[in-house]
Amino acid sequence: MMARALGLAVRGLGTTSPNPMVGAVLASGGRVLAEGHHSRFGGPHAERRLLAALTAGRTRVPSGSVLYLTLEPCTYHGKTPPCVDALIASPIRRAVVAARDPNPIVTGRGLRLLRRAGWEVRSGLMAEEARRLNLPFLLSQRQGRARITLKIASTLDGALADHRGFSRWITGVEARRAVGTMRAAADAIVVGRGTVDTDDPRLRTRAGREKSPSRIVIDSRLAIDPGCRLARVWHAETAGGGPAAPAIGNWVGAPGRGGGIRWIRRPRLIVATSRPSAGRGAAFVRLGWEVWRLPDRSGGVDLLALAGRAAREGLIDLLVEPGPLLAGSFLDQGPVDRIALFLAPKILGGDRGWSARMTPRALSRALLPHPAEAPIRLGGDLLLRLEGPRGRALVPPRRRP
Ligand SMILES: NC(=O)c1ccc[n+]([C@@H]2O[C@H](COP(=O)([O-])OP(=O)(O)OC[C@H]3O[C@@H](n4cnc5c(N)ncnc54)[C@H](OP(=O)(O)O)[C@@H]3O)[C@@H](O)[C@H]2O)c1
Repeated sequence: MMARALGLAVRGLGTTSPNPMVGAVLASGGRVLAEGHHSRFGGPHAERRLLAALTAGRTRVPSGSVLYLTLEPCTYHGKTPPCVDALIASPIRRAVVAARDPNPIVTGRGLRLLRRAGWEVRSGLMAEEARRLNLPFLLSQRQGRARITLKIASTLDGALADHRGFSRWITGVEARRAVGTMRAAADAIVVGRGTVDTDDPRLRTRAGREKSPSRIVIDSRLAIDPGCRLARVWHAETAGGGPAAPAIGNWVGAPGRGGGIRWIRRPRLIVATSRPSAGRGAAFVRLGWEVWRLPDRSGGVDLLALAGRAAREGLIDLLVEPGPLLAGSFLDQGPVDRIALFLAPKILGGDRGWSARMTPRALSRALLPHPAEAPIRLGGDLLLRLEGPRGRALVPPRRRP
């Protein structure tokens, strides 16, 4: 039943962030009575949808029915009233919860309130699966930073591009389709100035506007052309303008019925800079860009500060598509939580390897990526999903943002 609840939770991938994905199943004697999941930012939580399904179906709740929840119920008034109150008012009296609320201020509170109301509550079932499911939420709450996934498409010998800088296309159509899906699940795609200058990428998702991520370019001196193709695609996707504020992550609030707020997806266009030349910022802002002024580190943008700023802005899951320079900085400084390595059966030679710009390490200090799952075949290419030892960060940050 918990596996079923986790499966329901995943349906919110790409549409609940920066809120967590949550699934709920109510079962009695092996039979599912009702279920629900959190499907959209600002929408009803999984518990509320389950309770609504119970009411709509006029379902009787036999004593001993168990509620399986992938995340502890909320106890605070956010965009919706606390779920714990609605649960206590229902006829359910038993719960099994996978993970606690990662917010250090409220963790365990939902479980305590249920117990105080006479519920029998157990926690920790499939906790590791639940932790992985909402890792971006957990990192943003506990470490104040976004999750960082490096997406790398390379040849067998590690090249990201040929000796002229061309990288179209290293991998085949199936791998590129998988990249589109990863982009649609992320809050923002991040690229470096070098890639915009060389490739002028569009960074499309092929998943429609409803799952369109924000775009962030790391460009310490604001040297890119603000009219580059990724900006043009962003303009086309967000055409019609719409309200500009308040914004959380990829969502903007518009006046809704009854004085409430209706949340509409609107990806953001951001340039992250550390040493902007005078006057350049205004040109970007005029064209719809947000300019994030961040600290400098070793002559470039401080990448941990970027991950911290992104989390504060509600962009908690970043897919970084680095060239060799940006990949080298992330591998040196962190944070890197995962690598999605698309390997094409080609050999190019040259000096454009994805780790070529990382500071060399002694064998005893090598980074030790672990496969998160078995390699996946995508046409002629392979996808390796790598993470750090025991599912932790591959390159943890050395300080807090
Ligand atoms: N196969 C793939 O998956 C893939 C993906 C992306 C790119 N590529 C290829 O990679 C090549 C471009 O790579 P690149 O290495 O020249 O550029 P890059 O990694 O895309 O961007 C690097 C630039 O970002 C800016 N930057 C700002 N802060 C930085 C920091 N902390 N660390 C590193 N860079 C920072 C620097 O420019 P400023 O000093 O001006 O700020 C730097 O030159 C192209 O040939 C492209 O085709 C391949």
